[in-house]
Amino acid sequence: MTPIVYVGMSADLVHPGHLNILQKARELGDVVVGLLTDEAIASYKRVPHMTFEQRRVVIENIKGVTRVVPQTTLDYVANLEALKPRYVVHGDDWKEGVQKQTRQRVIDALAQWGGELVEVPYTAGISSTQLHGALREVGTTPEVRLKSLRRMLQVKPLLRFLDIHNALSALIIENTWVSTPNGRREFDGMWGSSLTDSTAKGKPDIEAVDVTARVTTLNEVLEVTTKPVIYDGDTGGQPEHFVFTVRTLERLGVSAIIIEDKTGLKKNSLFGTDVPQTQDSIENFCHKIRTGKRAQQTQEFMIIARIESLILDQGVDDAMTRAAAYLEAGADGIMIHSRRKEPDEVFEFCRRYNALPNRKPLVAVPSSYNKVTEDELQAHGVNVVIYANHLLRSAYPAMVNTARSILTNRRSAESDAQLLPIKDILELIPGTK
Ligand code: SPV
Ligand code: MG
Repeated sequence: MTPIVYVGMSADLVHPGHLNILQKARELGDVVVGLLTDEAIASYKRVPHMTFEQRRVVIENIKGVTRVVPQTTLDYVANLEALKPRYVVHGDDWKEGVQKQTRQRVIDALAQWGGELVEVPYTAGISSTQLHGALREVGTTPEVRLKSLRRMLQVKPLLRFLDIHNALSALIIENTWVSTPNGRREFDGMWGSSLTDSTAKGKPDIEAVDVTARVTTLNEVLEVTTKPVIYDGDTGGQPEHFVFTVRTLERLGVSAIIIEDKTGLKKNSLFGTDVPQTQDSIENFCHKIRTGKRAQQTQEFMIIARIESLILDQGVDDAMTRAAAYLEAGADGIMIHSRRKEPDEVFEFCRRYNALPNRKPLVAVPSSYNKVTEDELQAHGVNVVIYANHLLRSAYPAMVNTARSILTNRRSAESDAQLLPIKDILELIPGTK
């Protein structure tokens, strides 16, 4: 009997390195490709460009591939135990880095039936990482960016967003990552905060910065980034005006707008009941949601309804009644906001919300209950966590300190250690030289 040869692959951007591995595998027997699902890939690197079905079609049609099976985790063991292959073939580049442990588990599993790991020398000069980098440099289109949020929501359990208030803050979100044992961790996208955009313009967060001015910030951001944007639409304004905002955002490639169920002069939610704030009626707000949904030109744009019941001390029952009504009116998701120090009331809401038959993605903004972890939020079913104002809040004290240091010392030398070196600022933005 011809031996089974197992090859695990993402096959998003197929290049000669992959074909080299498959050729080696073909020499050893019948090649079964374990094609990583979108969820499996997103668990340790970016969401693939092509869907599972698209990637399957490509791989199935490569010479020598006998069969394609889904591999639902980065870990191979479940598939290996089901298929008991004589060989596993992989590039030798996984001896170090995120996949080191995966590799060891493959070796241990194969040992149970005398199977063997065959490692093919890494093909120099080409890699998926390089190709991804090149694609990112080329940029994106409004259509691709707009759709990317829905695609991420399908394949990642929890998305992480951070506030933007200008292009530089957006570049930080685009480019910052940390290395972890489970792969690269980065922000999934940008939160177009009304608070930080208004603050950066020196204006109060009361919808005084109009949509045209907010769109100016967005345009600067969109020009230099590729990640999805969720736009803070405040109350959305009059339904008749909201229609234009929706279409403007779609045209720009923004993925979603979040509108809050308040009416009259909007004040920032974190004031709670310290300032007069009026919650909109369910009927009016549902009408606004419906009007926005009807105005959409794309299938994928999302209108997310933000519930202010907990902010205004109206309780979880009221929040739940509203959640059900807003979803019924066509909202594509719900944001629940709270200004408590503990996440308890948000978690109670989550438990009840998760039981709704037409449940849609849930967004949380843990600004005041900031000890909560992403794991806890995910365990409660939260799909998007927004760090709503942290970049602006970190920039401001740093700038004030520098201004004070120069005033105190009547020179800048004392502040220098805290600053980005001149050499680095000259190299920060590509093309400055
Ligand atoms: C914002 O970032 O503008 C928000 C979130 O709306 S909050 O400030 O917490 O209300
Ligand atoms: Mg806001």
